[in-house]
Amino acid sequence: MNKVICIDGPAGSGKSTTARAVSEKLGVLFVDSGALYRIMTWQALEAGVDTSDAAAVAAFCKGVKVDFVVKGNRVAYELNGEEPGDRIRTPQINAHVSPVSAVPEVRAIVTKWLRNMPALGDIVVEGRDIGSVVYPDSPHRFYLDCDPDERARRRRKEDAGKGFVQTEAEVKASLLARDKIDSSRATAPLKVPEGAIRIDTTRLTVDEVVAEIAKAIA
Ligand code: DC
Repeated sequence: MNKVICIDGPAGSGKSTTARAVSEKLGVLFVDSGALYRIMTWQALEAGVDTSDAAAVAAFCKGVKVDFVVKGNRVAYELNGEEPGDRIRTPQINAHVSPVSAVPEVRAIVTKWLRNMPALGDIVVEGRDIGSVVYPDSPHRFYLDCDPDERARRRRKEDAGKGFVQTEAEVKASLLARDKIDSSRATAPLKVPEGAIRIDTTRLTVDEVVAEIAKAIA
């Protein structure tokens, strides 16, 4: 089987930036698992599904069709031949994605998609349950952690670049609310996977985190 590098952690811990850098440094495909939950949420909202109604969300998400296409060093997601882009990164999606991703049927679909991805090549996957549920047997599992204030600062800067103006306090409240739902849900809660290497990124640069990961894998 192809190599699977798992990077889990809370929002703003640096998973995405780190996983992209790992993908470049090690020449493996970057896989963003959160984007798949965002796509489910976006499609459900577009269809007018009440995201607090788990049964309705489960029934709807069964019909969502996504194509997986290798583009450069990443696995891209297409719906009817088009990538969703920043349409899945709005504050509205942020507010609805945790309840949608807590629905077990939705998790089963996304987990199945993720388990098919090694067929495309070696991969680095970032998410919340990659090392604990999706690939618990991978020898390359990492958990990134970070102080909440630093996470809010990073996420606000990132969102501002996309044109979303929010205070740091608002961003922090949204991050902590999502952490709470993500960590307390019954199915595949966010947690440090048993046996994973935990890295606190609060005072580390991306290069330092990537170097630590590369060293552990070598
Ligand atoms: O990493 P992100 O912010 O794009 O993730 C969006 C949401 O999806 C997040 O609130 C938790 C959920 N998620 C998950 O439950 N499991 C994953 N493997 C990835 C994301």
